[in-house]
Amino acid sequence: LLSALWSRRRRENEPPLVKGWPFLGVILEYGKNPLAFLQAAQEKYGDIFTCQLAGKYFTFVTDPFSFSSVMRQGKNLDFQKFAMGFSQRVFGHADFTSPLFSESYREVHMLFRQTLQGPSLEQLSETMLANLLSVIQHGQPSKNVWKEEGLQCFTTRIMFEAGFVTLFGKNSRLLQPEGKGAIGTCVQKAKRDFLAFDGAFPKLAAGVPIALCGRAWRAREALTKGLLHRELNHRIYVSDLIQRRMDAFDRMHLDETNKARTHVCMLWASQANTLPAAFWSLYYMLRHPEAFAAARKEIDQIFTKLPNDKAISVPKEKLESMIVLESIIREALRLSSASIMIRVASDDFILTLDSGQTAAIRKGDYIALYPRLIHLDPEIYPDPLVFKYNRFLDEEGQRRNQFYKNGRQLKHYLVPFGSGASECPGRFFAINEIKQFLMLALWHYDLQISEHIDTLSPDRTRAGLGILPPSQDILLRYKTRADRYTE
Ligand code: HEM
Repeated sequence: LLSALWSRRRRENEPPLVKGWPFLGVILEYGKNPLAFLQAAQEKYGDIFTCQLAGKYFTFVTDPFSFSSVMRQGKNLDFQKFAMGFSQRVFGHADFTSPLFSESYREVHMLFRQTLQGPSLEQLSETMLANLLSVIQHGQPSKNVWKEEGLQCFTTRIMFEAGFVTLFGKNSRLLQPEGKGAIGTCVQKAKRDFLAFDGAFPKLAAGVPIALCGRAWRAREALTKGLLHRELNHRIYVSDLIQRRMDAFDRMHLDETNKARTHVCMLWASQANTLPAAFWSLYYMLRHPEAFAAARKEIDQIFTKLPNDKAISVPKEKLESMIVLESIIREALRLSSASIMIRVASDDFILTLDSGQTAAIRKGDYIALYPRLIHLDPEIYPDPLVFKYNRFLDEEGQRRNQFYKNGRQLKHYLVPFGSGASECPGRFFAINEIKQFLMLALWHYDLQISEHIDTLSPDRTRAGLGILPPSQDILLRYKTRADRYTE
């Protein structure tokens, strides 16, 4: 096998081959700083090149105009194969691409759109707002008292609990008088398990078996136990998404643990990116006074004349009209997103790029798109490393959706949610919940972050896994806003 890997030769019309060391290939250089590695390779080899990474061949397509050419190759490029293999290994569930499950799993897959978008989105967002409000009110500091907490802890505490309860409902046993107050404690335990499990993702993605990551394995098993159907049946206000997935999995020949593992997978998908995205949105807003002022103005306009917190309700149109918050979130996503889109070539085929250049792709190779190259391209975004809160607003202060490279308008200029077959079905909900979080945080609190740290850097060890978390937390001071009530 080793000699086969080492002796791979570039065939006619194949992309340039970056081989590196035997077996390891260029994994060490790539792993140190994927962005810098890919930028240098792009400079040297152009829009398409193949890298050997730990025995696997990845062909990177770096030209944003060619993203659509890759997305159109649904027949030759398989999304499920890679994603399911990874998910199975990490979450430990069954292989849903096997003939035994594939037909019924298609039905489960369709539930994402049906329950996270369109009319269902409105209900889901309303529930999220109510849950966010409840968590915030529960942890409210007394009047005129400054409270201190890490900004990441603050964000994760509020967003995890509200998001968890929005999807998985509340434990009805804890709603009894004797269990009151225990809901929070129970969710905090799930949060700790989630963070322990999620913390091992860079290792798991690198191929380390979860059995060797003791803490993460125990945390995953604890989450699985809590999401067994017999436990979920004790919960009320379970979202349509989870309820309908439970029904669909109950109709399949699956054991109870396997069903619960798919819910752990859903929990991870709903939280792993949302938490750091909410963190960066709040962080940048607090770091940039002009962003903070514009956001606060937008929020205060929406909330004027509310008699009290209980009357807080933000219909879809109002949420959509908060375009300053949206621009802040999109800018934070641009700066922190490092997801990678991977497809597997199911056959030998010829890929034609936007420029007309053709490249022969081998069956079994991976095709990879790394949107961070676009997000930090100075031709598309001048001063790409600088946070500009209004980057996604035009001169009239309306949503800006037109971005250009080489004078040509781009279709794919902001891709934190992936694209094509694997595009995130929760993207609208994610933007809504982050907006709601920012809105309530700014409406409830005066917030200050520590000025001791110049700039917070993202944790690059998670490149390829989605939104990068910060490499360290930062101190937040907050107190209840005195000028909140306008009547
Ligand atoms: C898939 C990003 C929030 C549910 C994805 C993918 C990306 C992504 C890049 C595609 C992965 C791939 O190509 O392999 C994000 C980001 C989020 C976010 C940046 C927050 C800022 C959410 C939320 C939910 C969700 C809140 C659900 C409540 C899913 C699901 C998939 C997915 C179910 C798998 C789709 C499939 O298998 O076809 N997400 N996501 N995501 N996301 Fe999200």
